[in-house]
Amino acid sequence: MIFKQRTHNCGELNTKFIGQNVTLNGWVAKKRDLGGLFFIDLRDRYGITQLKINPGNSELISIVEKLGNEFVISASGKVIMRESVNKNIPTGEIEIDVDNLEILNESETPPFVVEEDVKATEELRLQYRYLDLRRKSMVNNLIMRNNVYQTVHRYFNEKGFIEIETPVLMKSTPEGARDYLVPSRVHKGKFYALPQSPQTYKQILMVAGLDKYVQIWKCFRDEDLRADRQPEFTQIDIEMSFVTQEDIFKLSEGLYKRIWKEDIGVELPDTFSRITYDDAINTYGIDKPDFRIKDIMKIINISDVVKNSEFKVFQDAITSGGIIAGIKLNEIKDSKGIKIEITRKIIDKLTDFVKENGLGGLGYIKINDTGELQSPLLKFLSVEIQNSIVSKFNAGKGETIFILSGNKNKVLQTLGQMRLKLAGDFNLMDNSKYEFVWVTDFPLFRYEDSEGRYYGEHHIFTRPKPEHLKFLDSKDKDEILSIRADCYDLVINGIEIGSGSIRIHNSDIQKKVFNITGFSDEEANERFGFLLKAFRYGAPPHGGVAFGFDRTITLLRGLTSIRDVIAFPKTVSASSLMDNCPSNVSGGQLDELGLSLKK
Ligand code: AMO
Repeated sequence: MIFKQRTHNCGELNTKFIGQNVTLNGWVAKKRDLGGLFFIDLRDRYGITQLKINPGNSELISIVEKLGNEFVISASGKVIMRESVNKNIPTGEIEIDVDNLEILNESETPPFVVEEDVKATEELRLQYRYLDLRRKSMVNNLIMRNNVYQTVHRYFNEKGFIEIETPVLMKSTPEGARDYLVPSRVHKGKFYALPQSPQTYKQILMVAGLDKYVQIWKCFRDEDLRADRQPEFTQIDIEMSFVTQEDIFKLSEGLYKRIWKEDIGVELPDTFSRITYDDAINTYGIDKPDFRIKDIMKIINISDVVKNSEFKVFQDAITSGGIIAGIKLNEIKDSKGIKIEITRKIIDKLTDFVKENGLGGLGYIKINDTGELQSPLLKFLSVEIQNSIVSKFNAGKGETIFILSGNKNKVLQTLGQMRLKLAGDFNLMDNSKYEFVWVTDFPLFRYEDSEGRYYGEHHIFTRPKPEHLKFLDSKDKDEILSIRADCYDLVINGIEIGSGSIRIHNSDIQKKVFNITGFSDEEANERFGFLLKAFRYGAPPHGGVAFGFDRTITLLRGLTSIRDVIAFPKTVSASSLMDNCPSNVSGGQLDELGLSLKK
């Protein structure tokens, strides 16, 4: 089919083009009939241009009458000034006085109107993703992705890194999630795994001497999905030899500084804040603290202050090895500057929240405007203890102290969640800010009570700090859990954006870590023999990091769901609604793979 090809796109014409004859190709976004005078909004990925069709031209009018939303057309005519200017779009001062119109393709009535303020459910948008991706904000998300790819490639190229592709069909590596498995037809009964990350390959590239590796690559993890998790997602994956943690921080800070500057024009500091894992947990109750609320509602442990009180709830917490801790909420104001009272209703809601987290209840002490304390706890606490609590929190008039007691982890975690909830509920966070923070010195292991075994907190290739190596031979749980590593996360506004570590490059240490995490020498050999063997042929000291690409784009675009920055994402139940996947396969395909399905 021959058609009149566009001379311009729908986003570029303005008053400079007045009087020129142009042709535009695009989709009908809207058709308006003002008593025989028609206006059409013509859309492509660059923008929207208004077409004007005069009532006098009956041939044109007969075509216009056939047009429905999302028809693909070619329109030619002269660029003229518009009578009613639309200041909101770049083409808003002009329109095309159409003299030729061609329908290039028809469209069925779309299931939803393609518009910025989309009314469709996410499910429908995912089902008709090609329509959803016609929306400007979705296009801009993909353009941001593209721009950041370019920035990342340029940055690493300048720094002498080599992009090396690693296999998609590989031997399974444990990164903490379940593998997606791919059955082998040639080797019946055997499986490849899709990479949870290229972790083992990038370490082996270091053994090969390729000392600066980078790759923007897909990872696959069969795990429970959330707004910031997809079963397949993209990482900026980095590994380097002969480096320390400081080198990796410097490289990463340079990278993120460059992305923020080039892609959203925001200048970041040369170095990012740092906090150790232990401090983050004790002060913010979370290993990904949101530094937009760094200085408020810090968690304070008051176990020492109240340990001699008669209050049974506190006594019980202490005798069972728990803690008593709290946070202080400063006087808060609404958007009109009017003081918000911490009412019974607010406290009841917070109490429900605390109970949902498995704690018995929420204690509080309010200091009213005259400095008098108000609290159901007062009758259980001596005046001396009451004053010590107030002074420990440095609390003053109009402020409220919230107190929890019980299991240490639960108390810290719940206070951490309460901080975020209060900050959200009362607008205590500056949402225009980007707060980058490195969380450092993660534990090497965590212990899973339900399974009675250790797991690598980051992953099992992470090297313990040299001074903690001795504990790898210990049988004592506390000693093993006290091992810290040069292992770090990059957190932006409370979201984990990246993770990495300095690695083990010695096969004996690696074996000990495998053993602690429950792999016998035999199993370790079966699963990771290739890595242990490589380490015996001159493995250099090395380390690296991987950044979540989708999460980075989500932040750059000010969004909350990574699904919006991925062209074809999966739902939270890991399906693709557009092409209906996963789907059944034929009996023949199963036979070929030597597989049969359990009934
Ligand atoms: P980790 O597993 O912490 O480390 O992943 C690194 C970063 O990848 C992002 N991420 C995800 N994004 C979307 N959906 C998911 N399901 C998902 N899982 C992780 C996060 C995370 O910080 N091999 C190591 C890195 C290393 O040690 O070098 C690794 O993959 O932003």
